[in-house]
Amino acid sequence: MRNTRRRTAILISGRGSNMASLVAAARHHDFPADIALVLSNRPDAPGLDYAKEHNIATAAVDHKIYVGRESFEAVMQQMLEMHRIDLICLAGFMRLLTPSFTQRWQGRMLNIHPALLPSYKGLHTHERALADGVKIHGCTVHFVVPEMDSGPIIAQAAVPVLDSDTADTLASRVLAQEHVIYPRALEMVASGRVHIEGHRVLGACPRVEHAPLVVPALDEEEDG
Ligand code: GAR
Repeated sequence: MRNTRRRTAILISGRGSNMASLVAAARHHDFPADIALVLSNRPDAPGLDYAKEHNIATAAVDHKIYVGRESFEAVMQQMLEMHRIDLICLAGFMRLLTPSFTQRWQGRMLNIHPALLPSYKGLHTHERALADGVKIHGCTVHFVVPEMDSGPIIAQAAVPVLDSDTADTLASRVLAQEHVIYPRALEMVASGRVHIEGHRVLGACPRVEHAPLVVPALDEEEDG
């Protein structure tokens, strides 16, 4: 039988916990994506060790030794072609990509962002959400477009913000949800179940959860 699993590269810069969640999902033989490469712009990224331990091809393309983003990305592109990559998942990859690279991979490159986009693009999302006093925060998987953190949204998860939260406690509850939605989003894209219409990603809702997330929670008798 022909292997139709989409060859996927995960790009990381550090710890790689989202990468690990994608690797774990892709171990199921019926998952529609195969993790064919883990590439880091930091040769010392701990996530590279994890990938090696799991017998996944790795590459380090150290952005610091290239003059300009174009030459750095040209080497990344060579690696991606060498490994016949179909899809890219950015997972804590902390380099901005040029419009020409993002356009080349348009519709085939996903990113995970630790906020409910379009709120809190950029860095320090948890600190900013706490400072603004929002009651619901979360994470987003989206297609990458040239404008940072702006592409069509594939999946989101919301978490309540607790009175006791610090940026760290909030980050860890959001991260747990990142690990849930990223494999789900990759599965939807790799299986061809979703399509992009304007700014919307459609076809992604096999099951509707009816319970709304209300914060502060309703009393039991008010609930439903
Ligand atoms: C994750 O929280 C991810 O959403 C965030 O970096 C972390 C990487 O953790 N990404 C961004 O902020 C991108 N702008 P990980 O290396 O353990 O997956």
